[in-house]
Amino acid sequence: MAIIHIDETKPLGRIAPEIYGHFSEHLGRCIYEGIFVKPDSGIPNVNGMRCDVVEALKEIRVPVLRWPGGCFADEYHWKDGIGPRESRKRMVNTHWGGVVEDNSFGTHEFFELCRQLGCKTYINGNVGSGTVQEMSEWVEYMTFDGVSPMAQLRAENGHKDPWRVDYFGVGNENWGCGGNMTPGYYANLYRRYQTYVRQYDHAAPIRKICGGPNVDDAKWTKKVLKTCFAPPHPDDAHGFMDGLSLHYYVHPGGWQNKGSATVFTEEEWYATMEKALYMEELIRLHGGIMDKYDPEKKVGLIVDEWGTWYDVEPGTNPGFLYQQNTMRDALVAAVTLNIFNNHCDRVQMACIAQMVNVLQAVLLTEGEKMVKTPTWHVFRMYRDHQGAQALPVTVEDAGTAGGKLPAVQVSASRMESGEITVTAANLSMTESRTVRLALAGRKTAEGVLLAGEAHAHNTFDEPEAVQEQALAVTQAEDGISFTLPPCGVASVRLA
Ligand code: AHR
Repeated sequence: MAIIHIDETKPLGRIAPEIYGHFSEHLGRCIYEGIFVKPDSGIPNVNGMRCDVVEALKEIRVPVLRWPGGCFADEYHWKDGIGPRESRKRMVNTHWGGVVEDNSFGTHEFFELCRQLGCKTYINGNVGSGTVQEMSEWVEYMTFDGVSPMAQLRAENGHKDPWRVDYFGVGNENWGCGGNMTPGYYANLYRRYQTYVRQYDHAAPIRKICGGPNVDDAKWTKKVLKTCFAPPHPDDAHGFMDGLSLHYYVHPGGWQNKGSATVFTEEEWYATMEKALYMEELIRLHGGIMDKYDPEKKVGLIVDEWGTWYDVEPGTNPGFLYQQNTMRDALVAAVTLNIFNNHCDRVQMACIAQMVNVLQAVLLTEGEKMVKTPTWHVFRMYRDHQGAQALPVTVEDAGTAGGKLPAVQVSASRMESGEITVTAANLSMTESRTVRLALAGRKTAEGVLLAGEAHAHNTFDEPEAVQEQALAVTQAEDGISFTLPPCGVASVRLA
């Protein structure tokens, strides 16, 4: 039996709701078809945003949305995506399938989507192929409230009032698709570009995100922080940066041999789990370097791309990154979100890649049909962690999965109401594990379970093959117990 000890006396800090954030890129069918459809498409929509998708996303309380990329961001010229749709410029999306991008989803559409979702906005700017002037004018267009050329252009395009930009990313993966830069070169560009991300609204400052490392590239983190970290300035809450990004994807068989999303062996299951757990090491590695500059942890580690990355579904465009989503993905999500909760002092935002129809999507669409993936269910089951106080957790006798991994992975938090949410995942593909929550004074519990065979997934023909069910909970003097089936994820609420 795994015994979970939760220390209610020493909260770790607030779990930023943004840890449950999402990423939507102009890639494959994420934006077009997945989120945005032609108003006369026959698919119910409000101003082009699919009603089914918006409703499902609201249910998991999407706190923040990153857009327009990814690699696409460093090729995106925002002025191509404003004004009358029929006269917007067309371009080739060279990164993703070489398809024509008609720019019908642009700045106005992004803010409309965020309005409907009720979420914060995270815009990723173009450093790779854009100018400082272009970036600075975009910020002016979006946020300046007064008389200026960009504010006037915005008004002419139908939006007199400025929008609120909560986060602004200065480039994306500038060590790779965003310009193949060295850390020293990017760091100097970052200093320059971020200067012109002007704060027009001091009551709602834009949080600036500096492009961080790829996976374990500590050299990048060190060089960039050495060059860019600066003490706070009256205009900038944290100096030159509010966050440093980190990208990490789980490819079970490595980058060259990612494997299928739905057909995998036991060995691949455990390789996936081991790679998911590696996220914690990465947070320690880069967080440790950040601690030297920022011991008070004011600057966030922003894991703005994470998730599984497999081979595309047979017969689909290789540049569209469309993959199915099984219980294996649910476990990766559960483990990763537990890690973020447990490191909420440093991880201040994270965005799963990506929201719809791309990589580890929470939703899949086909024409007018939509399915909620097992990953969507994990986000739903974990949603009460958003904004709650994380509590330290230790697991005694976690058991082993695949011979070496700790089987039971947990995080816990306390909401303002005083209720506690515990989320637990069982990494074993074959063995169930009984779990006891050793918490004095907490007697009433109710729970939800997501369980299924490792390969189980939802399809357009069988959209509810994997779904949440009530968790059987036993309440006794020595605590609250329940059984986690193999590949199971549970969320328990303690009154
Ligand atoms: O999410 C897909 C791609 O992965 C993004 O465009 C890029 O930033 C990363 O390499």
